[in-house]
Amino acid sequence: MPVNGMPRELISRERLHRRVDELALEIERDFADSEDLLCVGVLKGSVFFMSDLLQRLSRPLVVDFFQASSYRGETTAPGEVRIRRDLDHSLAGRDVLLIEDIVDTGYTMRTIMALMGFRGARSVRLCVLLDKACKRETPVQIHYRGFEVDDVFVVGYGLDYNDRYRNLPYVGVLDEVDVETE
Ligand code: IMP
Repeated sequence: MPVNGMPRELISRERLHRRVDELALEIERDFADSEDLLCVGVLKGSVFFMSDLLQRLSRPLVVDFFQASSYRGETTAPGEVRIRRDLDHSLAGRDVLLIEDIVDTGYTMRTIMALMGFRGARSVRLCVLLDKACKRETPVQIHYRGFEVDDVFVVGYGLDYNDRYRNLPYVGVLDEVDVETE
């Protein structure tokens, strides 16, 4: 690993948990009338955030996962997104809460949300821990946003660099690497 030492703390564990408390309250209120809520996490980055968030909800819900990859190579179109693991549950007629770690260019979320609409979801609301709004290349509607971050590479609380750092209890910045995402 080309990193010396631990990532610099950007968002502490305490701030993360306070914000998750607030988001859970908002979500609980907004979905009070929804009978059949399907919560979909995008693997793997959303897992820590999703676990903390959903444990704060007292309403019945179903949990499912989706995994996608963005390819930015020379042989693929910009923003091309491929599905690596599909959902177990049908989306037809369901209210969906889509949970993601970070929105950067927006291509991944735009593609997944469009696909969910195409498959007949009744509604799709997006809950994102981190919003790198300054990097957006395509618009994405975010219904629940944890924090906005600048154009820095963040790890921890589910976010990774080469699949490492996910278990850090805070969100930190990797300053010392020339980072290339998948
Ligand atoms: P988008 O399609 O460009 O919005 O890409 C979103 C995906 O890029 C996220 O789900 C992450 O996997 C990854 N990503 C973007 N920025 C970061 C970062 O700062 N740290 C870790 N992963 C990132």
